[in-house]
Amino acid sequence: MTAQTLTLIQPDDWHLHLRDGAVLGRTTKDSARQFGRAIIMPNLTPPITNTTMAMDYKSRIDAQGSGLEALMTLYLTDNTTATDIRNAHDSGIVSGVKLYPAGATTNSTAGVTAINKAYKAIATMEELGLPLLVHGETTHTDVDIFDREKVFIDTQLAPLVSHFPKLRLVVEHITTKEAVEFVQQSNANIGATITPQHLMYNRNHMLVGGIKPHLYCLPVLKRNTHQQALQDAVVSGDDSFFLGTDSAPHAQGAKESACGCAGCYSAPVAIELYAQTFEQLGILDKLEAFASRNGPKFYRLPVNSKTITLIRQDWQVPTSLNYAGDTIIPLGAGETLHWKLQD
Ligand code: NCD
Ligand code: ZN
Repeated sequence: MTAQTLTLIQPDDWHLHLRDGAVLGRTTKDSARQFGRAIIMPNLTPPITNTTMAMDYKSRIDAQGSGLEALMTLYLTDNTTATDIRNAHDSGIVSGVKLYPAGATTNSTAGVTAINKAYKAIATMEELGLPLLVHGETTHTDVDIFDREKVFIDTQLAPLVSHFPKLRLVVEHITTKEAVEFVQQSNANIGATITPQHLMYNRNHMLVGGIKPHLYCLPVLKRNTHQQALQDAVVSGDDSFFLGTDSAPHAQGAKESACGCAGCYSAPVAIELYAQTFEQLGILDKLEAFASRNGPKFYRLPVNSKTITLIRQDWQVPTSLNYAGDTIIPLGAGETLHWKLQD
């Protein structure tokens, strides 16, 4: 008989956008429903570029009382100093530093214009063991959007890791076979997060039969052979790969627009989406390692002491949610899921 419940060590989200202000009530609660801890992305306006800003942002998150433990990050710029990195490390609240190539994605204009400009900061991160979290896409206008991850790996990431062999680094939200292979061939200092949307969908889902703006995120969904490579990576059980939703809320109007924003709001249903995908792949027994063990191992943290329980029960993802008075469409809106988190 197939199991009717699934109890897991409480998972964590190793890549999360909570935003700021009035929406924090919604975003923190949606994530805390399932996750114990989350790596909080720093791409606010203005970006979180120093420890004081990270502490202030953390106190605004904590003030929501959701119970989600916020692991903060700094936003790397051309001007980040070795002292900024030391202060972040010594604060005890900063778990990593995020590298956005300038212009690669939402709120990335203040990002790094050339990686060598950040070498002093990165050298200090290598020395202190503070992880570098990388948005791995080149921004060269002559590189096709579907090739931007591969080209970034070849031209920037590979040289970076050979220059800093002890650097601890996460390739965030990987989307290609080349990224999977890069991580598999690297040492244990290199990990990668995988989102629900990149496991569940490929570019046909987004573009065939009409454009689906709520499936548009960056890095953009790739062809099905790349989706297959990501699925094979989780099937392999390699502990370099771990859960990071990249849940990135944008109001409905900002997505359904002539120039729609990138990002999928998966937080309300993330663990159920992963459970459904892992079951389809025949690897439900590997969900706990991916969601709850591999991330803490990489970040050198204990696994959570609580558990969560999923129940086998069909339910429909809400078609829309309130977003601080506005409307937001969650990933999987209207779809029937077969696992439901027990309240
Ligand atoms: C993210 C956002 O909206 O902040 N969007 C996305 O498509 N993933 C930024 C990011 O992680 O690239
Ligand atoms: Zn992100």
